[in-house]
Amino acid sequence: MSPRGSRWGMHDPEAIRGDFPAISSRTSGEPPAYLDSACMSLTPRAVLDAMEEYYREYPGCAGRSVHRWSEEVTRRYQEARETFARFLGSPGPSQLVHVRNATEAINAVARGIPWRKGDRVLLTDQEHNSNLVIWQHLRATRGIRLGILPLPPDRPFDPERFEEELARGVRLVSFFHASNMDGRTLPAREIVERAHDRGVEVLLDGCQAVPHQRIDLGRLGVDYYALSFHKMLGPTGTGLLYGAPGKLEALAPWILGGETVAWSEYDRHELLPPPARFEAGLQNYAGVLGARAAVDYLGAIDAGDLAAHELSLQRRTRAGLETVPGLRSLGLPEDAERGSIFAFTLEGIDPHDAALFLDQGHGVLVRSGMNCVHSWYRARGLEGNLRASFYLYTTPREVDRLIEGVRELREALDRGGAPGPLPS
Ligand SMILES: Cc1ncc(COP(=O)(O)O)c(C=O)c1O
Repeated sequence: MSPRGSRWGMHDPEAIRGDFPAISSRTSGEPPAYLDSACMSLTPRAVLDAMEEYYREYPGCAGRSVHRWSEEVTRRYQEARETFARFLGSPGPSQLVHVRNATEAINAVARGIPWRKGDRVLLTDQEHNSNLVIWQHLRATRGIRLGILPLPPDRPFDPERFEEELARGVRLVSFFHASNMDGRTLPAREIVERAHDRGVEVLLDGCQAVPHQRIDLGRLGVDYYALSFHKMLGPTGTGLLYGAPGKLEALAPWILGGETVAWSEYDRHELLPPPARFEAGLQNYAGVLGARAAVDYLGAIDAGDLAAHELSLQRRTRAGLETVPGLRSLGLPEDAERGSIFAFTLEGIDPHDAALFLDQGHGVLVRSGMNCVHSWYRARGLEGNLRASFYLYTTPREVDRLIEGVRELREALDRGGAPGPLPS
């Protein structure tokens, strides 16, 4: 059987768009060109159905009551974790903790490690606020130190610079796997190997990698991995923290309560082993079951075909936009090095105004601003960018709508006129 969304060995977005109500069930007119999947992906009907089924058919809480609904959700909740483990190449389901998002996963590691004053954490200069702010907080409250590794503008990574930083002493490397800013993917395996050679642990923020690449966490050998399901077809507010065998046991839980203990007395309690000790209180069962449906959906998509599809959209976007006067793209020079993200600035207009013009004038939905990487922009005195991001349902026609919109905006700006219908 050919993978879902593939036709003649090629990824075919048209074949799957019908599965996504937000772009297929509009009562009138053409749906917006949704080019903001790096922020949040669209959800297929199977995910919505799985969530609704939970509330309709077995709305119990897992692991507490013994009645049939509770038994049903307990079983499905466990099956979901097993599905995630298989999809991610995790050595087992108990290496995976359900969290709300990657931000919470990174915070869990940051707050859970027993830091010593002076321990050094190494970040890149392109981290999302989710992988920066908590470390700054720990610098202020726990006396850790931070190192920032600059990434080169012309290639994804500089191993020599990385070695120099490791040689200065690092306790934990905490890097994005793929960037939400310019789409680059870091050489994760090499980073883990070089760090481990020096006894340094590695946390990777996989938010932008897992939706587009097949990841094998066991083979990667990474110590901790964070992801958000809402960037890979799942419901909002669902994510995972992965800890390699033995790693979760060494983390202190950041929130305690019901479901985290085997028993309690008035003056003591016994914690359950991971992952249960990290999942305090009643969980987002509908969300987790929806995420399982998302992973089932994604697992049926051929990853190689998807990558080729995203590369063809990347090429089309670059070819259509590179001749626009005053447009500067931010990413690495090779199309294949920018993943599913095309970030750019347009001279003469604020990125948010440009994004409003594209939405209101052309129904093109893109991200604008600093993409939660304020540190990088502020260090360079830049205002931010426009970011188009693609996914498995993105069509060449949507890219063309972006190109038309940007060209029209350029002409309006050159005429000195108002750049189209902006809010009053
Ligand atoms: C690379 C990266 N890291 C972290 C995050 C934060 O994800 P969340 O808000 O789902 O926790 C994002 C979201 O855009 C991201 O792209």
